[in-house]
Amino acid sequence: MKLPETKWQIDTPALTVDLPTLKRNILKMADFFKDKTARVRPHFKTPKTVEIARMQLEAGAAGITCAKVSEAEVLVEAGIRDILIANEVVGGQKINRLVRLLKKGAEVKLAVDGAENIRELSALTARAKVRLGVLIDINVGLPRCGVAPEQAVELARLVMKSPGLELRGIMGYEGHIVLHEDAQFREQEAKKSMARLLSAKELIEQQGMKVEIVSGGGTGTYNITGVYPGVTEVQAGSYALMDTRYDKLNLGFEKAVTALATVISTACPGFIITDAGEKFMSIEFGMPRLIGVPDAQLAFLSEEHGHITYQGGQPPRKVGDKVEFYPSHICTTLNLNDWLWVVEGEKVVDCWKIAARGKSQ
Ligand SMILES: Cc1ncc(COP(=O)(O)O)c(C=O)c1O
Repeated sequence: MKLPETKWQIDTPALTVDLPTLKRNILKMADFFKDKTARVRPHFKTPKTVEIARMQLEAGAAGITCAKVSEAEVLVEAGIRDILIANEVVGGQKINRLVRLLKKGAEVKLAVDGAENIRELSALTARAKVRLGVLIDINVGLPRCGVAPEQAVELARLVMKSPGLELRGIMGYEGHIVLHEDAQFREQEAKKSMARLLSAKELIEQQGMKVEIVSGGGTGTYNITGVYPGVTEVQAGSYALMDTRYDKLNLGFEKAVTALATVISTACPGFIITDAGEKFMSIEFGMPRLIGVPDAQLAFLSEEHGHITYQGGQPPRKVGDKVEFYPSHICTTLNLNDWLWVVEGEKVVDCWKIAARGKSQ
């Protein structure tokens, strides 16, 4: 494919990633963990792009985290072997897909929080003569998956006696706190979550079982969870690309992605209409931020249109002009797109396939 020279020549709507910014974010995280016991295992749910996962591994990541078997399939296809699915995988169809990855030599681990699921995983892995690493999922405050620390021992025992399965550790994701804007409160609550997670390790180890991996954390808590005694891995995802939602926390990571759109109409008084709607960028964390157009903002999105309002009589942009936004939620925005245009400032240097976009199985 012949690349356009500048980002303004890219047909829209389209996402760009600034390569120097991406590299700085990856390096900042890698630098933080250089002298720590814990390591970062970046979450693939954000970039969904193998080129970025490879950069994170080259910078020293322990492996890659993902949420779904279909994401793990993309990673294995790209030659990435050490994968944690930080989620429960239920049902024969998906478990058999997992078995195929293990047969290819991938070292896939996953989270469990129920006896039925453990039995199902064991039956299918044992039958296929493969070994699956298992982390007991602990509820550390986010009402999602995970058991209470006291229930973890029983599950760990069951894993220990289940053919095909290997107890590797525990995980607990403090997702209820990662985005809290008050840094002090975030720290206090993240520490409470990690204390709860580590109490599960203590209970399991008291019964003579080994907990090697203790995994938790996100971008908003990487520097709290990442230094909490006993934590071995941090599952941060957004830090590599960032968005306006995480920007409010002033973590020192920079927004690397912009969303490009073209003005397609100014016919409706008071509005500039673009070709970038909800099918292109997500809005569950608020409107993407319009860049560099004073006294104008993105008011709302419809399926295929962006509606910019402005002050003053004349629209500040005309039909055919390009405009740019910072996404408000990077993970779901990337998931709506096939391609990530790689730029250095205004210059286009590459185009990466967002290979795991739509991989929600
Ligand atoms: C299991 C799990 N770990 C970690 C994260 C952290 O991601 P982020 O760094 O984007 O906050 C998430 C976010 O959804 C998650 O679901």
